[in-house]
Amino acid sequence: MAETQNKNPDLMPTDTPVIDYLRISITDRCNLRCVYCMPADGVRSLPHDEILSYEELELFTRAANQAGIKRVRVTGGEPLVRKGVEEFVRKLSRIDSELKVSLTTNGVLLDHYAADLKKAGLTRVNVSIDTLDPETYRHITRVGSVDDAMRGLHAAIDAGLEPVKINVVVLRGVNDDPLPFGRLSLQLPVHVRFIEYMPYFDDPGKWYVSNDEIKERLAGLGKLQEMESPEGWGPASYYRLPGAAGTVGFISPVSCHFCASCNRLRITSDGKMRTCLFDNNGFSVKREIREGSSPEHLRGIIEGQLARKRAEGDHKPAVGSRARAGDHMSRIGG
Ligand code: GTP
Ligand code: 5AD
Ligand code: SF4
Repeated sequence: MAETQNKNPDLMPTDTPVIDYLRISITDRCNLRCVYCMPADGVRSLPHDEILSYEELELFTRAANQAGIKRVRVTGGEPLVRKGVEEFVRKLSRIDSELKVSLTTNGVLLDHYAADLKKAGLTRVNVSIDTLDPETYRHITRVGSVDDAMRGLHAAIDAGLEPVKINVVVLRGVNDDPLPFGRLSLQLPVHVRFIEYMPYFDDPGKWYVSNDEIKERLAGLGKLQEMESPEGWGPASYYRLPGAAGTVGFISPVSCHFCASCNRLRITSDGKMRTCLFDNNGFSVKREIREGSSPEHLRGIIEGQLARKRAEGDHKPAVGSRARAGDHMSRIGG
């Protein structure tokens, strides 16, 4: 759960979350084509000159840090397809000794990068693996191999990244049997999070399964014991199966609207700040960054967006509201 702040009780509603978590999408490109994330014919990639350089993203993050950001998650598309990501992580982790840097990846290239990322200062990693079944994995990702993703997962554990989490977006009739992942949590020190599918470009009813249903099915493996969250900045709740090395968790954006406790700000690779995942009008800071705005000026812009987010409170666009054409999850980074 997000920490809360209440600096001026006359101006702030109680329990206003501290917005201190920045998600940086470093690329809109991906080496997979997940069915719930991208249409079959893919998403047109942004031209190279639209994408902020690492130096520009670092400049933005420095200003964000001064505006109160203390945790940064690097996302994509698939962040590991962009060259130089280890060096970028190193630069981010040097901005401030208190700033924590994590990564969300599909894991396919993680085998190659895990040890170097750890050395560069990455604290932890979340790996998206929606199924353990090779055929179903190929069906969901359209092009991927689950063996590659699992090799990446093990490399992360071996590199000492801790905690290691697995993201599973559950799709009805596709990968809605949670027991294989429940069993994996018995054996491995990983935190498997079942995520409710958010209809982003598809029919709202298609695929959706509530996490209550998943929880009920998992109880077939034993009584779920609620537990303290492993380190995490997002909206998941966690449970342990009896005797398990890891945990199972639930991210329920549809059945359990968590916007009121949202502590996240996002920036996309083309320099649009978003106060919400479903914010259609990202606020572009690319021009300011490219025209050499001072850190103070950038900080002022970021503080303006943070104030806007606080003022919006819970009044966010409904989860699953259709995003503007072309603004797919792969461009925002979840
Ligand atoms: P931790 O810090 O480990 O808790 O990570 P996280 O859960 O914040 O990050 P991750 O990238 O692993 O996100 C997991 C998934 O949760 C995302 O891909 C989304 O599906 C969902 N999610 C994260 N943030 C939001 C949000 O602000 N709104 C909604 N609706 N869903 C979100
Ligand atoms: N609903 C829920 N989660 C999604 N992700 C991508 N698209 C969706 C969606 N429609 C998740 C991925 C990954 C993260 C970056 O975003 O599974 O874990
Ligand atoms: Fe790529 Fe992630 Fe989208 Fe899958 S969900 S296509 S791994 S960006």
